[in-house]
Amino acid sequence: MQLRNVFVPALAALTAANFCHAEPSAAPATATNLPPPMNWTAGQDHQNMMEQLGIKTLRPGADGMNPKAANYQNTDEARANPYPNLPDPLTLNDGKRVTTPEMWWQQRRPEIVEDFDREVYGRVPKNAPKVTWEITSVTRTNNGAIPVITKQLTGHVDNSAYPLISVNIQLTLTTPANATGPVPVMLEFGFDFSRFLRGTNRFGGTNAFRRFPGFNGPNWQQLVLSNGWGYAIIVPTSYQADDGAGLTRGIIGLCNRGQPRKPDDWGALRAWAWGASRALDYFETDPAVDAKQVGIEGLSRYGKATLVTMAYDPRFAIALVGSSGEGGAKLSRRNWGELVENLTGTGEYHWMAGNFLKYGGPLTPGDLPVDAHELIALCAPRPVFISYGATSGSPGAEGTWVDQHGSFMATVAAEPVYRLLAKKGLEVHGNYLTAPMPPVNTALTNGDLAWRQHDGGHTDAPNWPAFLQWADRYIHGPPPTK
Ligand code: GCU
Repeated sequence: MQLRNVFVPALAALTAANFCHAEPSAAPATATNLPPPMNWTAGQDHQNMMEQLGIKTLRPGADGMNPKAANYQNTDEARANPYPNLPDPLTLNDGKRVTTPEMWWQQRRPEIVEDFDREVYGRVPKNAPKVTWEITSVTRTNNGAIPVITKQLTGHVDNSAYPLISVNIQLTLTTPANATGPVPVMLEFGFDFSRFLRGTNRFGGTNAFRRFPGFNGPNWQQLVLSNGWGYAIIVPTSYQADDGAGLTRGIIGLCNRGQPRKPDDWGALRAWAWGASRALDYFETDPAVDAKQVGIEGLSRYGKATLVTMAYDPRFAIALVGSSGEGGAKLSRRNWGELVENLTGTGEYHWMAGNFLKYGGPLTPGDLPVDAHELIALCAPRPVFISYGATSGSPGAEGTWVDQHGSFMATVAAEPVYRLLAKKGLEVHGNYLTAPMPPVNTALTNGDLAWRQHDGGHTDAPNWPAFLQWADRYIHGPPPTK
């Protein structure tokens, strides 16, 4: 079965922009002097960005659903690499070769960050407001057999500069109650089903963090606990809607005082990653957490956000990147499954900087100054596990939309940077174009970059055991309770 846009309608319903809606009645009197937030549809906002960039038309994306469509996704390897020359992560913009770790840290890495900031994910504003964390409840329960303490937290974002938009980050943190010291924590970007489950209610209840159904055995939280670690779940849509209409609200809208983005302003992926960093700020203050050993994990659009988080915030110790596809671990230069042109359309452009639209219109993916292998390289020397399901061959396989091979290629192509920093990439023979992929259900976990495709679908649940086995080399909980 192909990965269809199964989550899109659900998310559209679940994450409508009004989480971060203006609350004029609650705002101080000065708010009446401020222009109200723009109330645009995604289409109107997208059009505005096209006009800012002087773009008249964009190429259509691939169709992942209808094999008869003229623009049906390509799955022919012979046509998959129209731009086979990747930007070299170890060549400076002036053509000089990067030969030492110092050159990487001081010269090349900042160049790559600048290109991702300006052209791909957008910049976090210098004036991004402070977040004040409040513990709203503490409960003692058991998860499986393990006694745990769960804190519900709200990150109140300072909106004094523009009180017409209020933003509150929703986070839960669960740690083993009997831990003998601060514990490592895996932080997940969580899908929020609360509004769906509870009609049109606003987020805020304890039932917001449901698991995907249909997975038997211990869930990832229980696996993590049995390692002596804790886990946390952040709700990205509590601070930035998953919708172009939401770009003048949430944390992006707050920073822009309700007005539209400029072309190099941040998109939702960068905003979601910013929130994860604010959660880590909180963990640094919580004695239950070993903040030097916090990992990040997410699936699909949140797999993209996971890789962006890991790339930009060096405090995160490890990452599990689930089925991130285009805009994540997949090379944008590939013609396979989802394309750059899908991400520049009205349904997904909000994930990216406005400037990214250029690569689906006047420019091509081959013109991108950076590609996914360099996003992975920005994580070096820290360990990153790239996870996918199978393209086919098993019931409920993930399909081709996410481009497993294009993501494998990017992971292989990130290796030289890991090697420069005295770490190991994937252990493969050949270069990124020729290296054979391991069979499904075979983990490549000898290096600091790791890879595994499980035989199931659009989930990373079956890869958690392999991830944790590999992660054991890096992350260590306190001694078990006597
Ligand atoms: C769609 C989209 C993907 C995305 C996925 C998801 O399939 O095309 O880019 O990763 O939704 O987040 O569920």
